This record gives sequence, C-alpha cells and structure tokens, in this order.
Amino acid sequence: MNEIITAATEKFARLIEEQLKRVEKMKQEKDFIQYDKLDKIIIGIVGGDGIGPAITNEAHRILEFLLKEEVEKGKVAFKVIDGLTIENRVKAMKAIPDDVLQELKECHVILKGPTTTPRAGDPWPNIESANVAMRKELDLFANVRPVKVPDKGIDWTFFRENTEGSYVLGSKGFHVNDDIAFDFTVTTTEGTERIARAAFEYAAKNGKKRVTVVTKANVVKTTDGKFLNICQNIAKEYPGIEVDDWYIDIMTAKLVDEKRRTQFQVFVLPNLYGDILTDEAAEFQGGVGTAGSANIGKRYAMFEAIHGSAPRMVEEGRAKYADPSSIIRAGAMLLAHIGYTEKAQKLEKALDICMHTEKKLVVTGRDTGATGAQFADYIMETIQSLD
Ligand code: IPM
Ligand code: MG
Repeated sequence: MNEIITAATEKFARLIEEQLKRVEKMKQEKDFIQYDKLDKIIIGIVGGDGIGPAITNEAHRILEFLLKEEVEKGKVAFKVIDGLTIENRVKAMKAIPDDVLQELKECHVILKGPTTTPRAGDPWPNIESANVAMRKELDLFANVRPVKVPDKGIDWTFFRENTEGSYVLGSKGFHVNDDIAFDFTVTTTEGTERIARAAFEYAAKNGKKRVTVVTKANVVKTTDGKFLNICQNIAKEYPGIEVDDWYIDIMTAKLVDEKRRTQFQVFVLPNLYGDILTDEAAEFQGGVGTAGSANIGKRYAMFEAIHGSAPRMVEEGRAKYADPSSIIRAGAMLLAHIGYTEKAQKLEKALDICMHTEKKLVVTGRDTGATGAQFADYIMETIQSLD
C-alpha cells in the first residue's frame, strides 16, 4: 500500500511543480498587446478538421473582402495554417504539432475552425483537445461568449475562465490503482484575478450594471470558494457595478426562467461551468451552431465556432453545405477585437439580415439548401448594399 501512495504522491508532486511554474509565468505577464501600435496585424486562418476547412474558407473570403484596403496597404496580412488536422496531430502524437504551434505564434489573432477531440472508443489515440491545448499554449485565458435574443430580452456575455479549473490537468489525472482514479481542479490567484478583471472591465466599458459569479462554492469549497472570493474582491474596484453570486445548478435553471433571466448581463465563471452554461445559453439563440467564441489572452487571441467538426457531413459529401455562420460570427468578433469596429458591426448586421430578416438563401446542411459559398456571397452582397 505504501508503494501505491508513494507513486501517486510523486505524480502529484510533478503536477504541483508544473502549476507553480505556470503561476510564475503569469506573474511575469505583460499587459495587453495594442493592435493600433503594430506595423502589421497578422491574422492566422486555421481550417481544422471535418467541415472546418470548408466553413473557415468562407469566413476567410469575407474577411479578405472587408479588409481589402488594409491588406493592400500592408496593415493586415493573412496567414493560412493547414496542419492542424487530426491526422497530423496523431502522427506527431501532440495536441498541436510543433511546426503548427510555431506558425500560430507568428500570428497576432487566429480564426480557427473546429478540430476533432478524440474520446474513448474513437479510432484515434487519446491526445488532448487542440482547442484546450491552444488555449493553454497561447495563454488565452478569457473565453468570451455573447448570447443575444433581442425579442426575449436576452443580452448576455459570458466570461469563462479558459486556462485552469478542471481543464488544466484534464489529461493529467491518474489511476492510483485499479480501484481509484483522481482528476484535479486548479484555481490560482493570478488566473482568477485576470478573468474577473476582464469581466468587470467589459461591464464598466459597456454600461453593464451587474456581474454574476457562478460557482459551486457550497460544495467545491476550496477552488470554487477561492474563485468566488477573488471575484468579490475585484468587484470592490468597480463600485458602480453590482455583483451577485449563484451556484451552477440553480443558474442552469434560472436561464430558463423568463422573468429572471433578463436581469443577467455579464457572467464570470470557472472553466467547466462556463463550458456547460454557454451551450445552454446558445441554445436560446438557435443552438451552438449560431454562436461565436473569442479566446483572449494578452499577446494572442483566437476566435472560433463553438460547434464540432461534423465528420459525418464530410463522409456523406455534404461539407460544402455546412453552415459557416458561426465561424463568420467569430470573424466579426475578431474584427472588433483588433479595432475594426465598424466593419465588425457591418458584418454582424449582414448576418442578421441574411439569417433572420431577409433570408433569401437558407443553409440547411444538405442539398436542399444553399452552399456555404453561396451564403458567404450573399453576406458580401448584403454588406455592399449597406454602404
Ligand atoms: C468548447 C468545447 C471544448 C471545451 C471541447 C471541444 C474540448 O466544448 O469550446 O466549449 O470543452 O472547451
Ligand atoms: Mg463546450
């Protein structure tokens, strides 16, 4: 029995070492990059797996269209990065192959299509999710997910902590023996302060009056307790903004409560609760396929669709009918993030017209509807008609 404990303790010691190093790195962190101070902004385009390359290509075309002048003047450049596929990742046995990581690091912002996450029973070995790895490698600590349903009074922005919690050691749990397995959840002061500050800063800059902290601090007392505590301390720096705290279970219920849910504005929450709650929230807006997601760090930022890679659509020859609207929305978030607010608003507006009010074309995912390319053309025509 002692041997089992010693072996497990050694493993745990290595995890602590790693996390202490990560904290040291966070302490050295510089401030947010300023895009207007750069000579050239490099936008990486990463297709990913399955329907990813098809839909990402459509979003790329729209960004090229909107940034034509900037590209001509040399203010913006696109860099297409092809190698983030499950086949390449399996070959390298890495969540992100080294050469791809190197290319990603040459960019300032990245638009990323869905990537396959192997799970038990899949034909692939169990390598880590490319999403999760990219968030860690590029230190993209704030996962910002907006959800809006104007006619129901829903206007929410989620600030999901993106680099720690149950995810940071998600591939590093271990079986102590045949009977016991452990996973770990990690909350750090630095990691929580920066996500809390991002949420409150956003609230302050956007005229929001309330930030809601969601945890399960009544049961997961240490890590969630720390998260809640730190958020409440940061709140003191923002006297005009009210802070309230909810547990994740009742919060999932309250999002369905039509009287209550319109009162929420900005949410800040640990990684796993953020993962779950944002899928629920996106459902009110029309499903995860309609939502975009921003992964923001101080040096890099990555924008992605929040749906999967739909390998079945590719097998059935339907990739060209895949709906590119979620990755296009992510493209709009990217534009806003690097300072092209007006272009971002135009793109958002065109998306609303094409998907909700006018609907001259509808993407159904099958040959009963438009192709992604036709939809992207429709978006660009609509943008032109806005000028
Ligand atoms: C998301 C996804 C990812 C996550 C998966 C693909 C690893 O569900 O972006 O929400 O859990 O973060
Ligand atoms: Mg998710």
